[in-house]
Amino acid sequence: MIAKIFPFVIAAGFLLAATPSGVVNEYVGAAKCKMCHNKPDKGEQYKIWAASKHASAMKVLKGDEAKDPKCLKCHSTAAANAKLAQETITNAEGVSCESCHGPGSVYKTATIMKDKAKSLASGMIEPTEKVCKTCHNAESPTFKGFDYKAMLAKIAHDDPTTK
Ligand code: HEC
Ligand code: HEC
Ligand code: HEC
Ligand code: HEC
Repeated sequence: MIAKIFPFVIAAGFLLAATPSGVVNEYVGAAKCKMCHNKPDKGEQYKIWAASKHASAMKVLKGDEAKDPKCLKCHSTAAANAKLAQETITNAEGVSCESCHGPGSVYKTATIMKDKAKSLASGMIEPTEKVCKTCHNAESPTFKGFDYKAMLAKIAHDDPTTK
């Protein structure tokens, strides 16, 4: 009995130590979001993202560039956050949901997701221009400026049933 409880106590202690709120957010990958965010009547966010340049951001890197941390920091959500990335997220998925909405291991459960306040309290982010500019900036070798409104329109994946 003690042997069974012991690891749990250690795990719980670790979680409490990790952040002030006791919540550890890890990157889980776009396939996890797809389970609930690919319904046509709700805006099929996964399908739209999968067809976007963010999803193919690794494909524009050639040869060793695909292993270069200097490029990966903006072209791969998984590689840029390797320490907190679960095995369900791969470098190949490029810039995925969680680079903009925050790592989802905690907020992705149905009971939390249904409640916006709880989602936000559990690490979900409603991205602003500032989030885009962590990558869309002069550090990018191909940077030619960033028009937030125009770029936002290009990645629009609204849910027609909300707002
Ligand atoms: C178990 C199902 C489920 C999973 C998995 C899930 N979501 Fe959600 N999500 C929902 C529901 C339900 C809502 C509430 C809106 C709605 O009814 O469509 C929501 C809302 C959202 C919203 C909008 C919040 C708002 O109101 O502005 C974002 C952003 C979001 N999810 C991102 C994600 C991301 C990113 C992932 C993957 C890490 C994810 N979700 C995984 C079910 C899920
Ligand atoms: C600071 C973030 C950042 C870094 C670092 C970065 N990129 Fe990018 N990359 C971007 C963004 C954002 C775009 C989209 C176009 C733009 O604004 O430059 C992009 C686009 C590209 C494109 C497509 C260009 C086009 O015109 O379609 C290539 C190729 C590319 N990057 C290669 C690289 C390589 C190689 C490295 C490493 C030496 C690198 N990037 C490092 C953010 C970055
Ligand atoms: C490049 C950044 C970025 C990526 C990648 C991204 N999103 Fe979003 N997402 C946004 C922005 C920006 C909004 C709009 C927020 C607003 O309306 O103020 C948004 C809105 C949403 C909404 C709310 C829609 C609504 O109208 O209520 C959902 C749900 C969502 N995203 C899910 C996802 C999922 C699932 C993925 C991955 C398959 C994803 N997003 C990938 C930036 C992103
Ligand atoms: C984690 C880094 C990252 C973040 C955050 C990010 N992007 Fe990007 N974005 C990229 C990279 C890298 C590319 C280039 C991919 C390619 O060329 O294949 C890109 C490309 C794009 C493109 C395609 C440009 C074109 O020429 O068609 C649009 C539009 C875009 N981003 C909008 C946004 C918006 C809006 C946000 C914020 C809500 C955002 N991005 C946040 C990295 C990022």
